[in-house]
Amino acid sequence: MRYLSGIQPSGTLHLGNYFGAMRRHIERQAGHECFYFIADYHALTTVRDPEQLRRNVLGVALDYLALGLDPARTVFFRQSDVPQVVELAWVLSTITSMGLLERCHSFKDKVAKGIEASHGLFSYPVLMAADILLYDSQRVPVGKDQKQHLEVTRDIAMRFNALYGETLVVPEAEIEEATAVVPGTDGQKMSKSYGNTIEMFGPEKQIEKAVKRIVMDSKTVEEPKDPDENLVYRLYCLMAAPGEREEMARRFRAGGYGYGEAKKELARKILEYFGPFRAKREALAGDPAGVRDVLEDGARRARAVAERTLERVYRKVGLRE
Ligand code: ADP
Ligand code: TRP
Repeated sequence: MRYLSGIQPSGTLHLGNYFGAMRRHIERQAGHECFYFIADYHALTTVRDPEQLRRNVLGVALDYLALGLDPARTVFFRQSDVPQVVELAWVLSTITSMGLLERCHSFKDKVAKGIEASHGLFSYPVLMAADILLYDSQRVPVGKDQKQHLEVTRDIAMRFNALYGETLVVPEAEIEEATAVVPGTDGQKMSKSYGNTIEMFGPEKQIEKAVKRIVMDSKTVEEPKDPDENLVYRLYCLMAAPGEREEMARRFRAGGYGYGEAKKELARKILEYFGPFRAKREALAGDPAGVRDVLEDGARRARAVAERTLERVYRKVGLRE
């Protein structure tokens, strides 16, 4: 099975990215052929500062490698190192109806958040379809918020195949329901654009501060509490062993367990869980040239596949003999 997924270098990655998407990406390396990329063309729709974009790309590469991405086994690359994707996106855009794109929530949501309503932002799902179809991807592990984009990709692939004959592999989304939406410190979906994130690799003090911000109700320390409705408990469950989860749930139910104490426990757990990855990330950060080599090697392997697909598409549509 060929897996593919991308992540945008539009900021610092957080627990939502890890538990909603990246952890699955890393796990799927065992027994599958995986293509993972840093979606820098996509990030241009929101990041306008070139230095920041460069920093973010390096940051995402370090995060993935530290979290266990194995570049010997997985094709790990930067999207813009395979510009063939833009060529495919153009061809696909000519068979994509306006109506299909107009129905996409993400454009409307982003514009509502103040992001410029550019043509790139509007046509983003076509580029995403090209990302997926260029590599004959069969499975695409993503968070729930990307489900609609996968449906658009499937529509485009089927339309192409209906018009020109079987050419493109129709992919399937793989969405982990259990952690489909990781809540942020305010209870909404954790997201860079809501300012409610807890970063995996932020400084210790920053993580503690973010955890302190988690919104709680006004119950007193003594009152018994329902753990399932509690954000601290829900986040803790992502990282804690079953015994530890039961213990926290028991304390909440029993009463006499305050939110301050629970938050300390959560911050400790986050630091413990990501501790070994953090050490690895620091070691990798000392060798940025090594990271660039990894991405270049990935791009070479990705281009070999991309060129073959594009050739097939160009022949089908009549751009080549
Ligand atoms: P953000 O919302 O912070 O901008 P992205 O849209 O860049 O995050 O998401 C990158 C990946 O991480 C996507 O596959 C997305 O589904 C997943 N993801 C992001 N936030 C969450 C969350 N709170 N819960 C689950 N998955 C998430
Ligand atoms: N749109 C995805 C996001 O914002 C990132 C992405 C771009 C992607 N191209 C992709 C994900 C292809 C999976 C497959 O999170």
